Amino acid sequence: MSSMWKLIAGSALLGGLGAYFYASQVESRRYALEILDIVIGGDDAGLNFSGLGKQEPLKVLHLSDLHLCYPEADKVKFIEMVTDKDYDLVALTGDIFEDYSGMLYASSLLSRKPRLGAYAVLGNHDYYHYRLFHKTFGRIMKKYRHPPLRRDVKPMVKALEQAGYVVLRNEGQSHSDSCVHVVGVDYPGAHPAQLRGLFSQVPPQWLRLLLFHMPIGLESIASSGADLALGGHTHGGQICIPGVGPIITDSELPRHEASGLLWRGQTAFHISRGLGADPRTNLRFFCPPAATVLNVYVNQAKEDGTEAGGIAKPKRFG
Ligand SMILES: [Fe+2]
Repeated sequence: MSSMWKLIAGSALLGGLGAYFYASQVESRRYALEILDIVIGGDDAGLNFSGLGKQEPLKVLHLSDLHLCYPEADKVKFIEMVTDKDYDLVALTGDIFEDYSGMLYASSLLSRKPRLGAYAVLGNHDYYHYRLFHKTFGRIMKKYRHPPLRRDVKPMVKALEQAGYVVLRNEGQSHSDSCVHVVGVDYPGAHPAQLRGLFSQVPPQWLRLLLFHMPIGLESIASSGADLALGGHTHGGQICIPGVGPIITDSELPRHEASGLLWRGQTAFHISRGLGADPRTNLRFFCPPAATVLNVYVNQAKEDGTEAGGIAKPKRFG
């Protein structure tokens, strides 16, 4: 090999090692708190849910994909910090524990009780212990996508409840004083008829908030009547190429909808990038881990003529 080719090969090797170090040790730990204003409800929606006054949004902290397992340090400190603020509601949308060792940190998942409570749903990593076999061959052959046995999640549910979360498994909870109804969909999802049933008794002017883990059947969620639906699972794609975006979403979502705010009809969806990943594949490139504060406004409450939509205002932590 000529010295020129040796130089090119050496540079490529060093560049690759540097990128791997950055993705695994730097960006995957750059936890960010982002703020997103969302305006929901069309002109005729008649929503009146917050009871906080016309210009006051419903403030929701959205956490997802923690993938907690021993040992954790900075991620748990970040969660303690962001949950120690005044929210109306905290939503935790699955892949909370990578394995049972992660339950050691359950008591750090909610520093302050929100006005309307904290709600959690479970994700596929809560239910399954994945071997690398499933993570590789499962992408090619669907029957190997998940291990044959599901994990007993009762200890995880108990740990979350002791931390102050209500774990919703295809069920809902109402707050009649604030006109808010929260539904949580258990992994892997719910039948469209079941989804419609979960909102069928809710008065039309209430906010219908739905939590799920895997973004699947978004049209069904929209037709169930949900105004706002929060989920995760994609991790935003984890590896993003500047100007191109994520390579995969690990879901039915197209790449440009791997994270952030998206719409199906009148239903707003927020897909979180999450705060973690399977520790064996926790690489992030131009896709830092994030928690999000959602300021939810009703369309009519905006007197400046703002249309339904949203804008992200990223904030760095640390
Ligand atoms: Fe996840």
